[in-house]
Amino acid sequence: MQQIKIFDTTLRDGEQAPGYSMNLSEKLEMALQLEKLGVDTIEAGFAIASTGDFKSVSEIANIIKNVRVASLARALEKDIDAAAQALKKAAFPRIHTFIATSDIHMKYKLKKTEDEVLETTREMVKYAKKYCEDIEFSAEDASRSRPEFLYRVLEEAIKAGATVVNIPDTVGYTSPHEYHKLILGIRENVRGIDRVDISVHCHNDLGMAVANTLAAITAGATQVECTINGIGERAGNAALEEIVMNINTRKDIYPFFTNVNTKEIYLTSTLLTTITGVKVQPNKAIVGDNAFAHESGIHQHGMLEHKETYEIMTPASIGLAENKMVLGKHSGRHAFLDKLKELGCTLDDSNIDKLFAEFKALADKKKVVTDKDIQALMVRRHTKIPEAYRLDRFVVNSGNTITTTSSVRLLCKTGAILEEVTSSYEGSIDASYKAIDKLVGKSFILEDFLISAVTGGTNAQGEVYVKIKTKQGNVYNGHGISIDIVEASILAYISAINNMIYDERN
Ligand code: KIV
Ligand code: ZN
Repeated sequence: MQQIKIFDTTLRDGEQAPGYSMNLSEKLEMALQLEKLGVDTIEAGFAIASTGDFKSVSEIANIIKNVRVASLARALEKDIDAAAQALKKAAFPRIHTFIATSDIHMKYKLKKTEDEVLETTREMVKYAKKYCEDIEFSAEDASRSRPEFLYRVLEEAIKAGATVVNIPDTVGYTSPHEYHKLILGIRENVRGIDRVDISVHCHNDLGMAVANTLAAITAGATQVECTINGIGERAGNAALEEIVMNINTRKDIYPFFTNVNTKEIYLTSTLLTTITGVKVQPNKAIVGDNAFAHESGIHQHGMLEHKETYEIMTPASIGLAENKMVLGKHSGRHAFLDKLKELGCTLDDSNIDKLFAEFKALADKKKVVTDKDIQALMVRRHTKIPEAYRLDRFVVNSGNTITTTSSVRLLCKTGAILEEVTSSYEGSIDASYKAIDKLVGKSFILEDFLISAVTGGTNAQGEVYVKIKTKQGNVYNGHGISIDIVEASILAYISAINNMIYDERN
């Protein structure tokens, strides 16, 4: 069976979309999880774009040892120099260089003729090859390029040493039938194509990114570029989890395999939403809240009689925990460790100690602790940035006929204890956030605030995502979880502030 290589660009094409920015520590966490998921290549960033991007490519290259790490570079010497420099410590580096090949991009954006684009391709692939054996060349806007010209560009790139040629549908314009034909045309008309991987990179502007990707692999593409949850520019990129689960579920029409451990899909998706604070829609294929929920009586009846009547893949196959009672307050550490293992948790001992203490505290309050509750705690524990501030305690006095007051006490990394009482007509969260602002000596614009319940029931844990904006216009994400929604809100706010402090110091 043919392997389809997974090139994940969550940290490059995904991260560059508005609302999805991540700090260095978050990118490292995400990269480690992608390695665990079993992708073949992590595109870690665009090294020349900023010092932050350069740093994250080089730090990811430094810690990821089992997977290829790529950096994007325009077909320019200075971009390629930066990519090569950032990838220095990578075990398996790849420079990914690109230039546009469609008439519209060449005329208006590049202001280059076809011959000039051919020349740049040849020269820049050769230039990159000086640094690195593994070179990917992308013909940007390939799906709207003149096929005969595209064939010539790809041929030049291969002659100059490219090991992968990528055929992006940059603006999400193509259709499965057309894209399939384009890949067949490339296989028939480009000399040397058998020596390299053909890669596809689809955007979702018309909602066709995954369908186009699958059409391309049936035409002979051997690498797919995709992102977790389909995040990316505009309507996003092809969603990794959808491509992989199509391949796994429809072996009859997709006789391929990938290296992805599908049981890590749910955790990877949740880690991304927890970091970015952007949830997927409930009906999102594979990882949406409703993706495995059977609501209608007819469906439920069918499921009870025989699961396969309405279930084409199991929740367990993507690592989704069933919402069943698992442990209670009498459960010991051993049972808890077994459960973590079953849920795919690979935290170190000190984090497991903290997690166990949190589980005990939750079991005391909640009685029935489900797999989903534990998964929510697991993801939060992943947040490893140093805590400049930690919540020590808070007291809120609130009601519908009184002004709310909130007293918040924070422990600082320096060992100091700070306390502030603030009142507000606008409720407990406003009062608490104002108290925290006074304690840290800054104020923020609350750009986004999202609250939801981890499970059903009035005793469910509340999960809060916030985005705060500083006076300089920088936005930071925060996440908090607690059985008390005011506490979850406070924790989320403090975690966003800790993120800001970490970012400012790195
Ligand atoms: O969409 C696109 O064309 C890209 C390239 C840089 C690969 O992201
Ligand atoms: Zn793209």
